[in-house]
Amino acid sequence: MIDDDKKAAAVAAVAEVRDGMLVGLGTGSTAAFAIRTLGERVALGLQIRAVVTSEASGKLARELGIEILDFAAIAQVDLTIDGADEIDARCFAIKGAGGAMLREKIVAASSARMVVIADGSKRVDRIGAAKLPVEVLPFASAYVMRALTDTGAAPVIRHNYRTDQGNLVVDCHFATLEDPRATATTLAAIPGILGHGLFLDEVDAAYIATSGVVTRLERTGASD
Ligand code: A5P
Repeated sequence: MIDDDKKAAAVAAVAEVRDGMLVGLGTGSTAAFAIRTLGERVALGLQIRAVVTSEASGKLARELGIEILDFAAIAQVDLTIDGADEIDARCFAIKGAGGAMLREKIVAASSARMVVIADGSKRVDRIGAAKLPVEVLPFASAYVMRALTDTGAAPVIRHNYRTDQGNLVVDCHFATLEDPRATATTLAAIPGILGHGLFLDEVDAAYIATSGVVTRLERTGASD
């Protein structure tokens, strides 16, 4: 069962959480398993505080009694646990199927350690098959769509969807993602694009569960 694997990966990552930590909570169905597991440990006396990457994760965490701080006042997080749509051996990830990639990337960047949790279906040789979500300022939507089309991104505006910040998500599908750093640079250079789901430097490790067996992947060093 994929849900059992999501939970197994979440439990392994939450085992890294220690008393006194400020924990970043990701978004999505796998991250929700981590939030629930953390909630169980908090109920048993674990002393932590957390920041969240979405309104949905904040609601769940509060319901479970986890103390949530306003990230706007936080410069550094100890450990962030989040899901991914794809993760490869370089610890390169594509995120954002749930639309929270902008906040997710900011919280990940602020974190001393960022751990991805996933079931085995997310583990790929090289990232690139998943749609790459891009957050777009509505004011810039027509221009950004033109610019993305020019880069070969085959962009599609996510239907009836706004991010927690009220922006659009455009799902891109590149014929090839041979050079993800070049793609990230291209996207970052388009005015009106506020963020994207390529996580090339943020992920330090991943717990990936397949048929109940959890494998830990650690970033080994420089990747390209
Ligand atoms: C949320 O915006 C995403 O980045 C999620 O972390 C990612 O889509 C994984 O979600 P699931 O755990 O629901 O597959």
